[in-house]
Amino acid sequence: MDDVTGMVARQYDAYAYPEPFTDLAAQVAGGYFEYGNPRDYAALLWPEGRPQRPLRILAAGCGTVQAAYLAYTNRDAEVTGVDLSEASLAHERYLQERHSLTNLRLFRGDLRRVGEIGRAFDCIVCSGVLHHLADPDEGLRALAGVLASDGAMTLMLYGATARTGVYMLQDALRRLGVPQTTEGIAFARRLVEQLPEQHFARWYLSGAAELRHDAALVDTFLHPQDRAYTVPQVLELLERNGLAFQGWVDNSHYHADAALARFSPEVRGAVAALPAREQWAVVEMLTQSLGMHMLAARHAGPALLGAEPDFTAPGWQQWVPHRVPGLQRVSARQVGAGAYGASAQPGVVFSRNGQTIELGPGQAALLDGTDGSRRVSDLLALPALAHVPPVSREAVVREFLMQMWRLGHLLFSRVGA
Ligand SMILES: C[S@@+](CC[C@H](N)C(=O)[O-])C[C@H]1O[C@@H](n2cnc3c(N)ncnc32)[C@H](O)[C@@H]1O
Repeated sequence: MDDVTGMVARQYDAYAYPEPFTDLAAQVAGGYFEYGNPRDYAALLWPEGRPQRPLRILAAGCGTVQAAYLAYTNRDAEVTGVDLSEASLAHERYLQERHSLTNLRLFRGDLRRVGEIGRAFDCIVCSGVLHHLADPDEGLRALAGVLASDGAMTLMLYGATARTGVYMLQDALRRLGVPQTTEGIAFARRLVEQLPEQHFARWYLSGAAELRHDAALVDTFLHPQDRAYTVPQVLELLERNGLAFQGWVDNSHYHADAALARFSPEVRGAVAALPAREQWAVVEMLTQSLGMHMLAARHAGPALLGAEPDFTAPGWQQWVPHRVPGLQRVSARQVGAGAYGASAQPGVVFSRNGQTIELGPGQAALLDGTDGSRRVSDLLALPALAHVPPVSREAVVREFLMQMWRLGHLLFSRVGA
């Protein structure tokens, strides 16, 4: 084991991450979900339709819970978890036994040597890991090497902008020689409390409730090896390693319409007019809110469907919209329903990840109708849209579905596209 890998392994043995929970059934019943789970994100990973075989899933750098969670929520899949940390794998094993996860295999080892397991995977989940390697490209190439030709991976990589203050503190704590010990953690906590109000790290801290756990504090401020990426750097990382960007797990952080709501129509319009990649890069710089990038990638190849659904394509009415996890109705209110119904009908508020939208009854019926089985053509025939004149119904529904996609609420499987 090289020095960096040894330090990283020792950290996660002493401070296994994330803070584990003891019962998957209770956690899932309480609404827990993980981004990128192929059960929920198949339309992102395989918009052309998922491979028609039991999935072989790899959780690379699985930590304490992820491999068991994937095995629990994808019972018909074979799940493999790999991690350097024995302490993390011990908790995965505990969950495996507790929930009788006979579809889970766990290996202690370095993901750079995952090829030695001797099998290919249809789906690889690698979240919060590659940025802890001395050479993340090497790790990504190892994963690409075991990804089936029609396989897909979801990656979580740290985002550079929101973590600016984290790196300032890491630098200071490293120079101070603060160790990964109980005393070191206590010192780091005291130091953090004394930061000036406007310190960049304060801004990060305000959105990171998990830092109350020691393992999360070590992971954030006392980590011996981590780096972060901007949008262009994420895309370059994929491309120089033979992978194609398949889409963001949550579009709302990248699309001007959704992410720049506080900006004027002038600014929003200027950003939205840019080519997609430039738009994402500018949004990241204007919002400074991305502490992580979650994305899907595939092997590069001409047959791939693009990340952005083309709503002008023939046959778009055959697409199947899927709601992403976490989107829920929260309350009904009186709103003007605009194009979707008579005025002053009761409106419906949906929320997801702190983002709320208020919809008229026709729009709400459309969103409710996206249950993963109905096609767009089925939605066009919903009784709630009967009052929309047939000549404009397609345009109205198209505009609404595109908006929901940009807000990250919907994904589209484009079988037959
Ligand atoms: C921040 S935790 C993320 C855990 C999990 N993926 C999740 O999202 O909850 C990073 C994990 O990656 C593991 N790890 C880091 N470098 C690794 C490597 N080269 N090979 C295998 N596992 C590694 C660590 O031991 C740790 O458990």
